[in-house]
Amino acid sequence: MSLAESVRTAGSLQLRVLGAAAGGGSPQWNCRCEVCRLLWTNDPRVTPRTQSSIAASVDGENWALINCAPEVLNQIQKTPALQPSWGDRHTPIRSVLVTNADVDHIGGLLNLRESSPFRLLATPLIQDVLAQNPIFDVLNPEFVEREPIALGETFTLLEGLEARLFAVPGKTALYLEGDTVEIGGESESTVGVEFVHGDQRAYYIPGCAAMTPALASRLDGADLVLFDGTLWRDDEMIEAGVGVKTGARMGHMSMSGDDGSIAAFADLDVARRVFVHINNTNPVLIEGSKARLAAENAGWEIAFDGMELDC
Ligand code: MLT
Ligand code: MN
Ligand code: ZN
Repeated sequence: MSLAESVRTAGSLQLRVLGAAAGGGSPQWNCRCEVCRLLWTNDPRVTPRTQSSIAASVDGENWALINCAPEVLNQIQKTPALQPSWGDRHTPIRSVLVTNADVDHIGGLLNLRESSPFRLLATPLIQDVLAQNPIFDVLNPEFVEREPIALGETFTLLEGLEARLFAVPGKTALYLEGDTVEIGGESESTVGVEFVHGDQRAYYIPGCAAMTPALASRLDGADLVLFDGTLWRDDEMIEAGVGVKTGARMGHMSMSGDDGSIAAFADLDVARRVFVHINNTNPVLIEGSKARLAAENAGWEIAFDGMELDC
């Protein structure tokens, strides 16, 4: 490695799970599914989780948020590294990247409106969605620079940390669904993130409708994958009586079953595999449950708020 390269890749990649839950969080404000009931009654087998977001850094001083949950203020309050540390106004958050335009991933942008500079990164299509929602104009353009990131392009997420976006099977955001919804299409609507740091390969994919051969070969050999853990079973929200949609209809592959993510990863060489974006109906959230043990026995970790992943 040249001197320039070793300087460029100095520091280790640090990822922090700020929120491990899917849209709604757990417990969800209006839900009494089995997991939410346990949470509302402070059962020790379950832990509250906020909505879906992680933070990344290579020096511990400058951070990128990947996705910006409605609870971002609460997440910053729980994460000293993300708090202002000098002067009258300061933030270590240099950039915010969003992987789709779902409310759980963009809602928190409204909380970052107090005129501190940061870069707002997303595909051109997701940037258009934000641009067409005038409420996001509260992000003062004098301070917040919106940068469209093309699929496949290597870009600087933070000084010393590059990344690439790639399309994964997904769908448009719930509030943009028209009469007919394409599910499982690969477009700028739903992307995964590849962190490029020296020879380490880490991926963050909080929403994914299916494992394709191309995605499997991309992930094979990775050091770390944070993957869509929305549902355990495709019909679990219907079974629980709290929804009418399957996971497939929502653009999420389930953990279990022949088409599930646990099976899809079984033959992949991925050193560390972690489920994120976990819906409150998912029984893996209950410590000691059959689903939790099955996921753990298959080599998966269940993310929690505050989880630190260094690679
Ligand atoms: C999802 O991941 O399916 C969405 O976050 C659903 C939602 O907007 O609540
Ligand atoms: Mn979501
Ligand atoms: Zn629930």
